[in-house]
Amino acid sequence: MDKILIHGGRPLSGSIKISGSKNSALPILAATLLTREPCILHRVPDLSDTHYMLQILTHLGAQVERASGTVTVTSDTIESIAPYDVVRKMRASVCVLGPLLGRCKEATVSMPGGCVIGDRPIDLHLKGFEALGAAVRVENGNVKVFAPKLVGAVISLTGKFGPTVLGTDNVMMAAVLADGITVIEGAATEPEVVDLADFLNKMGAKIEGAGTRRLIIEGVKELHGAEHDIIPDRIEAGTFLVAGAICGQGVTVKRVVRDHVSSVTDALIACGYQIQWGENSITVSPNGAAKPLEIATEPYPGFPTDMQAQMCALLSTTDGISVITENIFPQRYMHVAELKRMGAHVQLEGATAVIQGVERLFGAPVMASDLRASAALVLAGLKAEGRTEVSRVYHIDRGYEHLDEKLSELGAHIERLKE
Ligand code: EPU
Repeated sequence: MDKILIHGGRPLSGSIKISGSKNSALPILAATLLTREPCILHRVPDLSDTHYMLQILTHLGAQVERASGTVTVTSDTIESIAPYDVVRKMRASVCVLGPLLGRCKEATVSMPGGCVIGDRPIDLHLKGFEALGAAVRVENGNVKVFAPKLVGAVISLTGKFGPTVLGTDNVMMAAVLADGITVIEGAATEPEVVDLADFLNKMGAKIEGAGTRRLIIEGVKELHGAEHDIIPDRIEAGTFLVAGAICGQGVTVKRVVRDHVSSVTDALIACGYQIQWGENSITVSPNGAAKPLEIATEPYPGFPTDMQAQMCALLSTTDGISVITENIFPQRYMHVAELKRMGAHVQLEGATAVIQGVERLFGAPVMASDLRASAALVLAGLKAEGRTEVSRVYHIDRGYEHLDEKLSELGAHIERLKE
């Protein structure tokens, strides 16, 4: 397993380009199953998660060609069973359920297991399929959904922790080929859901309201091939903005949608950093002493749970007491124990982290536990005195395209130790 080695304390400056969004690419790749015709996707990031998704599509019978960031998928004939071996590596595999149900009127997919960021049920996805007329059976670790035909319905998809992103995607992908009109109330409004709806509409679907809490979907008989550019990854952009804040002297992220990261730039401004917006770019620079912050994660457009760990790293070295509350995945604090090993003072009280900023962090061997926690450890390592060795780097490779190379371009002393 590769490791990342960081010699901290080097100032970062310059600019990097943001890659295509992982969380857009995954459901959009799954959506190509909805048509027999070729779909061409540009800016698909080169990540292990997108590779897993391409393996799943191939297993289901799709033909996949990849040339740099462009992926062409042709799903002429497909089967509707995705076994454990194929889907176990990635929880987002669950988003093939909707398109398979839409096209084949049946799908069997191994149930996603637990995950270090907490319990991750799919009850809302299944509730949505049932509302469209599908029967759901969970047996031998698989979930099977089937229906003689799908019929449009009014469905509410908000659960105890708010709307569901992949649940909205899944039900939308099944409903595009249902008879009649489906209304999804309490839909997720994340930019990745909007990107998927845009792609489906290019394929001939009739979806209105993407980006609002109510989606109206008029079912069509069939979809056709389409070409699409994946939106920039707002979480990668946010992570580099925090890197720029934590030890930057002016770091610019290019190819970013300003609105998609405004909760992150708002937080950085509240901490006292200077933010400048260009056309498709954002620069973060220091601006005197940084201030502590009180922040809570929320569904979009609120502060994203996928940026909570990185913010925790930043606030660990911000003088004063900061408070972070995690409202989406209340147990998503695996990074805290590792940050503490680097000298951070963080106290967990349920879903709230109380952070007493310290003057310096110290390099240490630390272990990545999940994607965003790993990013937080890399950010802390950039700031820390001495050498930080982050192991289990495969977590980072799931969701950040060439993170170490991009940080190197900004001047970080970072290298990958291959094993
Ligand atoms: N939930 C339910 N029932 C469901 C589905 C979700 O109770 O059927 C709960 C979850 O347990 C959670 C909340 O609803 O408390 C929101 O979960 P959501 O379904 O929105 O999460 P997701 O769709 O499984 C996506 C991203 C995550 C991101 C969340 C929240 C992808 C592939 N994954 O997951 O991204 O944290 O939305 O924004 O899009 C990451 O990239 O590191 C990552 C974990």
